[in-house]
Amino acid sequence: MTKLLMNEKIAKAQKEIDDKKKYVENGKMRQHYHLMPQCGWMNDPNGLIYFKGQYHVFYQTNPYSGFWDSMHWGHAVSKDLLHWEYLPLALAPSEVYDDFQKGGCFSGSAIEHDGKMYLFYTGTANHGHGNVQTQCLAISEDGIHFEKYTGNPLITVPEGIEPDSFRDPKVWKHEEKYYMVIGGSRNHRGLALIFESEDLYHWNYLNVLSESRGEWGFMWECPDFYPLGDKYVLTFSPMGSGDHTSAYLVGDFDYETGRFDSHVSGEMDWGFDYYAPQSIVTPDGRRLVISWANEWEWMPLFKDWGPTYQEGWCGFFNLIREVKLGNDGTLQFVPIEEMKNIREDGFCQEEMLITEDPKQLKAGDGISFEMKFVFDLKKTDADSIEMKFRCGDGKETCCIFDLKNGELSVDRQNSDGWSTGVSRSVLLVNDKSELDVHIFSDQSSLEIFTDQYRNNHSNNIFAGDQQNQLSISAHGGKAVIRNYESYKLKDCFRKE
Ligand code: FRU
Repeated sequence: MTKLLMNEKIAKAQKEIDDKKKYVENGKMRQHYHLMPQCGWMNDPNGLIYFKGQYHVFYQTNPYSGFWDSMHWGHAVSKDLLHWEYLPLALAPSEVYDDFQKGGCFSGSAIEHDGKMYLFYTGTANHGHGNVQTQCLAISEDGIHFEKYTGNPLITVPEGIEPDSFRDPKVWKHEEKYYMVIGGSRNHRGLALIFESEDLYHWNYLNVLSESRGEWGFMWECPDFYPLGDKYVLTFSPMGSGDHTSAYLVGDFDYETGRFDSHVSGEMDWGFDYYAPQSIVTPDGRRLVISWANEWEWMPLFKDWGPTYQEGWCGFFNLIREVKLGNDGTLQFVPIEEMKNIREDGFCQEEMLITEDPKQLKAGDGISFEMKFVFDLKKTDADSIEMKFRCGDGKETCCIFDLKNGELSVDRQNSDGWSTGVSRSVLLVNDKSELDVHIFSDQSSLEIFTDQYRNNHSNNIFAGDQQNQLSISAHGGKAVIRNYESYKLKDCFRKE
């Protein structure tokens, strides 16, 4: 019964995708190397897992339109994290606990057990007394077709936690037990709760893993918790915390007590478009994070889903990053090394002098490219360095390395006629002899990494095809760039 209902819903939604995808996939603003939906809406990455020789990525999706509604789980697989094959939808709302009034199959995670894939997700339903969120299970033998567990929901909200803010289970195994971290809210403060289980079906509430003291908003969405080196890392996306989109805490964890003592905190990204990161471990032991490249809060507010909505889709993932633990306990988020495999048309220059006169930079086609270099701070006496991307048709996106005042900013107020805002972060260069810069531009996004991948800005920009010029200039002095390299990046989605 359970299976039949969901399968009917999936078949209906799948037909919608099959009808629309050929138009949408050839439309405007499609990314070249960032995963996006075939059509319709996409938000959080879900259920990331390496299973039977392939990477599986699921995602929150509304297959019927380019706006958030009625959450299904989309599904794509890849062998190299660059080229993706879309599979049929994995989950659709179909039950009393996940299919009532704007409910759905909300975010969650995956784990392999006895050769099967187990998906844990949040069922959201409203039966007239507000949204109620519970944690649910669906199982698959082949990693393609899923069946919801008849004993759902597995976990209901603990006392004191808001029933409409108890979601996004992330599951892992440690020694012989399973653990799950879930985002929540109590007394208007965000928190992460930890549960344990012997068999994946019966779960005990263990502890509050970490809680906002007011600085990290009223609800923590999509928490993730994992070991890195000799430390543990907690990441989450706080709601109602100003400019903070996705935060991390690094500390020590005790499995006996469920206690996490964090001593370092930071931002995973300072751009406007970095949300709901989830991690995955590769067969060679790297910890990668995948996140959703869309700001959540203000789009529904203004009832404007952005320029791609007109094209029948909305949302994509950021560049996949490897998480590394720095010597000082802070985290680095490094674009995966697989990106090197789609480089073309390389260009290198050992040294470049940058003055007040804007210098045109060579980087692929000026749209889909990678660029890497260092500022030689010993030979640089400029107050600030200005880089302009996607210039043309009177528009541009301006990035300023303000060395004097210690700020990095990305201004997209004149990027495309739609995007707004200036993303900012502190840039400390006092004791440094060089500043590393690594930039990835795609059709609709610009991702800037600096300061050993600890100071990153991911922003969506919906610039047109004629906006393909880029330049650099120095103000209040000169700047010297060393080891400049740039590449065009191949389109991983267009069929040849
Ligand atoms: C984060 C989020 C999650 C939720 C999902 C619903 O973007 O709000 O907390 O599970 O999206 O689509």
